[in-house]
This record gives sequence, C-alpha cells and structure tokens, in this order.
Amino acid sequence: MHAHSGASGTSKDAVSAVGRRENKMELCIVGAGHVGLVTGACLAEIGHRAVCVDDDRQKVAGLLAGQMPFFEPHLETLVRQNHARKRLLFTESLEGGIEQADIIFICVGTPSLSNGEADLSAVEQVARRIAETVRTEKLVVEKSTVPVQTARWVERTLAMYNGGGSKCEVASNPEFLREGSAVEDFMHPDRIVIGVAGDRGEKLLREVYAPITDGAFSCPIHHPCTNDQSVPLLVTDIQSAELIKHASNAFLSMKISFINALADLCERAGADVTAVAEGLGLDRRIGRSFLNAGIGFGGYCFPKDLQALVNIAEKLGCNFALLREVERVNQSRAAVVLRKLKDRIWLLRGKRIGVWGLAFKPNTDDVREAPAFRIIDGLLQEGAEVQVYDPKAMDSARPKLTGVTFCEDPYQAAAGAEALVLATEWEEFKAVDLSKVKALMTWPLLLDGRNFFDKEAMQEVGFEYIGMGR
Ligand code: UGA
Repeated sequence: MHAHSGASGTSKDAVSAVGRRENKMELCIVGAGHVGLVTGACLAEIGHRAVCVDDDRQKVAGLLAGQMPFFEPHLETLVRQNHARKRLLFTESLEGGIEQADIIFICVGTPSLSNGEADLSAVEQVARRIAETVRTEKLVVEKSTVPVQTARWVERTLAMYNGGGSKCEVASNPEFLREGSAVEDFMHPDRIVIGVAGDRGEKLLREVYAPITDGAFSCPIHHPCTNDQSVPLLVTDIQSAELIKHASNAFLSMKISFINALADLCERAGADVTAVAEGLGLDRRIGRSFLNAGIGFGGYCFPKDLQALVNIAEKLGCNFALLREVERVNQSRAAVVLRKLKDRIWLLRGKRIGVWGLAFKPNTDDVREAPAFRIIDGLLQEGAEVQVYDPKAMDSARPKLTGVTFCEDPYQAAAGAEALVLATEWEEFKAVDLSKVKALMTWPLLLDGRNFFDKEAMQEVGFEYIGMGR
C-alpha cells in the first residue's frame, strides 16, 4: 500500500494533490468502544466525515474533551486532530448521528453469555433504533464480531420496526484490528473483507476504503510510507464475510494452542519449542506468526469468539470439537505454570511470587481474560503472596484483582520473592537492571511465561531460568 498512484476501478472520486479524496463520505459509527473509536478516527483520517454515537454520556463528554476511554497507540492524536478538523464528531444521539450518514457501521459489543453464546442484544437494540429513526435509505454495516447469520436477523429487525418504510440494505465488514496496533492495522490491513447482498452495498463500501486500497492517503504513522503493495479487497456473500472473521480468530487461537501443546512435548523430549517454531514457520504454508509458546491467549476476542463459533456451529448441527480442545489447552496453561513453580520451590503456601505484566499482551492496558489473572488466581488459591507490576494496566487491573500487592515498579514486585513470573512481554522489562532484580529476590527463580528473555543471558546474571517449552 501507499504507492501514491492509481485510482480504484470503481471509485469515481478524484484524488487530490495532497493525497486526500475530495469527495468524502458521511459515515455514522454506532458504539465508541475499541473497534468503533478506532474505525471512526481512521475513517476520518483517510478523508471521510465520521460521527461516533455512544449512549455512554461520560464517554462522549470525555471524547469531546479529548480524553481517551482506553490506551491505544496513535489513537489520541488521530481523535484530537480529526475532531479539530470537524471530520470526527461524537454524540449520544443516534438520531443526530445517522441523519446525514450514507452508511451506518454497527460497532457495539457482543460479549459472551454464560453458555458461550454471543450476546447480541446490543446489536438488536441498535438495529431496532436505526429502524425506528431512519428516514432515508442507508447501508447498515455490521462491524461487530457476530456469529454467522446475524445479518439476516439485523435485516429482519430493520424491517420489523421500520415505520417510515425506507429500506436499508445490510452488509458485513468484519474488522481484524489488534489491540495495541489497531491504527496501524487499520491503515495497513492484510485484507479488507466486505460481505454484500448487492451492487449498491459493494459500491459504497469500496468507496469508503478506496483511500486505503489505492494508497491515496498520507499515512499518519509512517513518514514516508514505503509499503507499496495494494491491499486486497475481498467481496463475498454476507454469511461468508461473517464466518471469515470468526474463522480467522479461531485459526489463530488454534495455532497458539498447537504450539503450547507442542511446548509441553518439547520439554519432555529435550527439544526447544522456539527452534521448532522457527523450523515450522519457515514453511510458507504455515508461517511463523502466532507460534509463540507461553502462558496462552487472552483478551476480549479470542476466548469469546472461539466459544461463539463452537456455539453457532453446534446450533447449526456441526460438532466443532477441535475448537473445544483449543480452548482446553489454553485454559490448562496456568496449571502448567503452577506445576513448574512447585517443581522448583516446593509448596506455594506462604511463598512470595512476583508477577511482571497483567495486560493480556503488551502495548495495551486491557486485562480482559488476561492469562496473568489465571496464574494469579491459581497462586492465591495455593496460598502464595502475590505482588504485581504492569507498565500500563495497573489501573484497569485494580478493580478486578483482590488479595495481591500492587507495586510501584518491577523491582518492588520482585523484592523478597522466591520466584518471578513474566506474564506479559513488555519491552520495558528488557530495560530493567536484572542483576538488581536478582539481588532483591529471596531466591532467583525466573519463570519466563513468554520466552521473552535470552536463557543464557539470564543464567549468566545468576537466575535459575525456566522458559515455556525449552
Ligand atoms: C485478535 C486478532 O489478532 C485480531 O485480528 C482481531 O481483529 C481481534 O482479535 C478481534 O477480534 O477484535 P487481539 O485480541 O488484539 O487481536 O490480540 P492478539 O494480538 O491477536 O493476541 C491475542 C492473544 O494471543 C494475546 O494474549 C497474546 O499474548 C496471545 N498470543 C499471540 C500468544 O500467546 N502467542 C502468539 O504467538 C501470539
């Protein structure tokens, strides 16, 4: 991407000299959570006018004052700049938000119900309110991660509650953003997927993404941008687009559980899982990414989406037991960590254990389904004293984590400990004075839950080093 040439075959818009399209579109994004806010800010950045609607009054007030509801690299700048340019607006009023819009993106949450099924009540609610409010024909796009066939229900809901009689077409446009690199992922996607029922939806969505597929915008992150490959835009039927999203997350989860199961085998067989992953990954059909063994996956998406896919598959009469196993392997990683500790320091009761990292991965303050929490729960159940430190996630962890000591810095979290567990691979931990850490500990056991440190280097410092699968 970002060869600054070439216009989309279907886009009628000219590309201005500064690389911005002259003919911006009017877009409404319902839900200013991680997906919605990033989508809104990035769509504004590439030249459109985006209105983000959220019924959380405090969040909207905060955003209007330039306060981010969560941490995401580059997002704050994009929000402030585009808000100042009047290309990104925030409101509580759905009616106001959709009035001018050509397209409405539904970006509300789809959390898990207790049985693993996706809770689609927010999606239904938004569809119903759109139906009741809309006065002219709009394209309604589901961007929230939803089970296959949700669009059919959205369509039906729009028809059921539409007093005004203006028909809305429905499309699916899943997002593949990762937390911590969401802006980057939006601007430089591997692919854009649109699931449509007809030409109109396809045309409108192609137009929305034309600046990205054409590379006709100046990248807010990289100056200059050197990537000159075009971004594929895949057009499918709606059900396939819905499934592509769930299938992608499930496949990536499967890669992680595969390498984690292999890590246990490597340990028993005297192999090194990082070398095995290297060898596996060189096969282009497999690829090296998402083969980092460790304490497992977490976050808002993988665990929830995996369950939702198993659930919808079963509802439609398919037994997707393979994915249940992916989840089982993932859940068992905490027990693997506890066993490793007990193998080295015997009983955990009364022992002090330091934990570095609480976020489910680096560069985010998100602790939802964080593997660190599963380990901490296990440690507390065994009667250990746990002292924790995370560079960004302390505030988000505090309300969810009781019975632990929250520390000021990595040193404090290690002080007096019989073992230190690295749960999140923050770059910041590489800059820590590890000799000092070792000196502060009662016993220098370092359990590297992410294979983040160099084993030999750690042994040189004097740590008893345990990795995952090596
Ligand atoms: C994931 C997907 O990667 C995105 O493409 C998708 O859009 C998003 O879910 C979503 O559905 O919204 P995200 O949850 O932000 O993104 O996090 P990832 O970077 O994918 O990491 C997920 C978990 O897997 C983390 O806990 C990470 O530590 C773990 N992981 C990842 C491993 O344990 N090993 C690996 O090799 C890679």
